[in-house]
Amino acid sequence: GVKAKIAPSMLSSDFANLASEAERMLQFGADWLHMDIMDGHFVPNLTIGAPVIQSLRKHTKAYLDCHLMVTNPLDYVEPLAKAGASGFTFHVEVSQEYWQELVQKIKEKGMRPGVALRPGTPIEQVFPLVEAEVPVELVLVMTVEPGFGGQKFMPEMMDKVRVLREKYPSLDIEVDGGLGPTTIDVAASAGANCIVAGSSVFGAPSPQDVISILRKSVEG
Ligand code: DX5
Ligand code: ZN
Repeated sequence: GVKAKIAPSMLSSDFANLASEAERMLQFGADWLHMDIMDGHFVPNLTIGAPVIQSLRKHTKAYLDCHLMVTNPLDYVEPLAKAGASGFTFHVEVSQEYWQELVQKIKEKGMRPGVALRPGTPIEQVFPLVEAEVPVELVLVMTVEPGFGGQKFMPEMMDKVRVLREKYPSLDIEVDGGLGPTTIDVAASAGANCIVAGSSVFGAPSPQDVISILRKSVEG
């Protein structure tokens, strides 16, 4: 079996207290911290960038799972590596012309490359990236339109997860958007093992319980 990585989305945290919010999630059992980087162009929202990752890095050794909802991911490789990012997941929709160069650079800088796709993007588009000589090591299947937390999970995206899991038994498959105790089972049985959850974790009376429910669903 593939191991679960539970990744609270810090987009739902109190940005004014990011270090303590991160610490709290790790104590609650989080494996990764999911960091949503948006540029106000690829998506109609603007969040954080390398300076905030760098500030957070001074307070934690945690795996920082960066999700780049930006039009020019190449521009972010060096600043994010310097800032201490761990994973660098870019969108396939913007990188058709240069993903090989991008993946190479991400690896050279010591980060783990991943590729994400919007709900409307066919899964076939990521196959070449998983099968490349220098491959991506994670595929993030968006289960909402990227841009905002708190949206409704799209169960029809599970077909993509099933296809990926069938083809690539040991690939890290991440789902992002609307995941929580009521939606995790379909995602886990489709084959997702990396679970991003923002509002369901931060909005819960016991985030710890939610994290443990998500883990149990994936690990059985
Ligand atoms: C949306 C982001 C997600 C978001 C998930 O564009 O990529 O990571 O924070 O939030 P929830 O879990 O509330 O849908
Ligand atoms: Zn995300």
